[in-house]
Amino acid sequence: MCGITARVGDDDAVDTLLTGLANLEYRGYDSAGLAMENGDGLEVYKREGDLSSLRDAIDAERAEGHIGIGHTRWSTHGAPTNENAHPHTDCTNQVAVVHNGIIENHATLREELTARGHTFTSETDTEVVPHVMEEFLEEGASVESAFRDTISMLSGSFAVAVLVEETGELYATRKGSPLVLGVGENEYFLASDAPAFLEFTDQVVYLEDGDVVRASAEDHHITDANGDPVDRPVQSIDWSPEDAEKGGYDHYMKKEIHEQPTALAQTVRGRVEDGHTGATFEAFSRGEFSDVKQVQFLACGTSYHAALYAQQLLAQRGVPAQVFRAGEYATNPAPLGDDTLVVGVTQSGETADTLGSLRHASDAGARTLAVTNVVGSTAARECDDAVFIRAGPEIGVAATKTFSSQVATLGLLAEQIARDREEANHEEYTSGQSAFLEGVSTLSENVQWLLEGNDVENLVDRYRDADAYFFIGRGVMHPVAKEGALKFKEITYEHAEGFAAGELKHGPLALVTPDTPVFALFSGENDEKTLNNVKEVQARGAPVIGVTATDASEVVDTVDDVLEIPPTHPALAGVAANVQLQLISYHMADRLNRAIDKPRNLAKSVTVE
Ligand code: M6R
Repeated sequence: MCGITARVGDDDAVDTLLTGLANLEYRGYDSAGLAMENGDGLEVYKREGDLSSLRDAIDAERAEGHIGIGHTRWSTHGAPTNENAHPHTDCTNQVAVVHNGIIENHATLREELTARGHTFTSETDTEVVPHVMEEFLEEGASVESAFRDTISMLSGSFAVAVLVEETGELYATRKGSPLVLGVGENEYFLASDAPAFLEFTDQVVYLEDGDVVRASAEDHHITDANGDPVDRPVQSIDWSPEDAEKGGYDHYMKKEIHEQPTALAQTVRGRVEDGHTGATFEAFSRGEFSDVKQVQFLACGTSYHAALYAQQLLAQRGVPAQVFRAGEYATNPAPLGDDTLVVGVTQSGETADTLGSLRHASDAGARTLAVTNVVGSTAARECDDAVFIRAGPEIGVAATKTFSSQVATLGLLAEQIARDREEANHEEYTSGQSAFLEGVSTLSENVQWLLEGNDVENLVDRYRDADAYFFIGRGVMHPVAKEGALKFKEITYEHAEGFAAGELKHGPLALVTPDTPVFALFSGENDEKTLNNVKEVQARGAPVIGVTATDASEVVDTVDDVLEIPPTHPALAGVAANVQLQLISYHMADRLNRAIDKPRNLAKSVTVE
């Protein structure tokens, strides 16, 4: 977690650093800080709270400098205070450090450093780094070797950027946490994620674990952990700066909900064969998955729900699949072999739990595949293969458009896996799939239709004083019910739970009262069973909002309110239903004045286990 940024150039770095921090705030927003070289040594500014407090402090001091490092924090070690905010410095104030990740041996290092006379001013794990480096510099080491020697003493996962006074150079490295280098004209950037500097350059170098970067205004050098030069290509990013801005919307979340038609069109483009006869991926040739006997999905949060959805799509095509919460996988691993395809579903490609479980599967001999939104992310680089969902940058902490694009991508992947297996077994390619592929191709326009006619705001007023909110669904609507509840609790802070519709009577029904609205999701398949569950909750006085196509007349006549979705293939109805639930969550959170894009206690990219 946390966002780090750094910039060196031949003009003032303060504004570019603050822009970088603003663009990284989704990674953490409980405190922020900057360190700059101003010609007279290092100046450090740190403030708890969001970036505006830091901005005010910097404006008041009229801070400036052509080289600096910055940080926006999501607390792991120590409360969000000025003292615990990064950058952290050594006893002599000549070394400043920003860090994302966890330094596991910090307690031992701190004890040893304290015994040797160092004074610590924060509770963070990070603060050991400048003090260790201080010792190496005092022994006469060059800045680069002091940095290398310091890094070699750290265990854990980290991305670290360091500024040492009067050097005019930035030093940085990564091990298990993201870090990219931006290459501008007479300027370089370092950041946890490329949107930090997208306004200034679209040229980026994706760093590998163990790489050490040294950058000045004139050039950069990358070496591996042994100090040997490594060649990392400079690549162009095709995300525009506008993609990462709010574009007139009040919140990123709202913008990203409304971007779903475009995102879905990008996701699907070129991947459905003419006549809807099959799915095709740029990374794979026909027969690529002939040997796959089973699929295991590893994911967290919203991506986990997309994986649950995909499991059902694979099952419908006769492919055995299991879904694991990535954080649990290494503790309780499932048997796998070299005929198991392990798919890590991760928007960011940087979620520590997902990366850890993918590494575990890879070590056990499985083939790994990343399904991610971020080209150059750790998951994309570490897995055997990667498929990109092409949703464009998602800044709001609540995942929205990426769920839709994940489901569409995974649906197409399920098609290719099923066909490859069927062809290998000399079976006839299952008929009837063209309707599914046609459905995938029309998802974009269906969601567009839904967004144009949307009217959830009245519903929000009607139900805003409820005690709790329940979401129920069957088949593909079950993961959507869980996703709807996750979104609702994440941004409204109200209690919400998602259940398999038939499961209510086995316990949760005890919670149902006239003050617990129930959102019931209908796909067009097994609707009569879900309708029975609706009647069970209505008998306990709960109002029911049906999310359904309006041609399901019995559903429409039974429920108390309707959120309409367009008629579509039943296996894909969950995508549209989920968009309705995103809108409900968004408008409820807006009514309740919540921090929609940056909900309390959370961060977009969770890079700690
Ligand atoms: O980047 P990832 O898809 O791996 O992130 C996984 C979860 O942290 C993420 O989906 C989280 O649950 C979202 N904030 C939910 O809106």
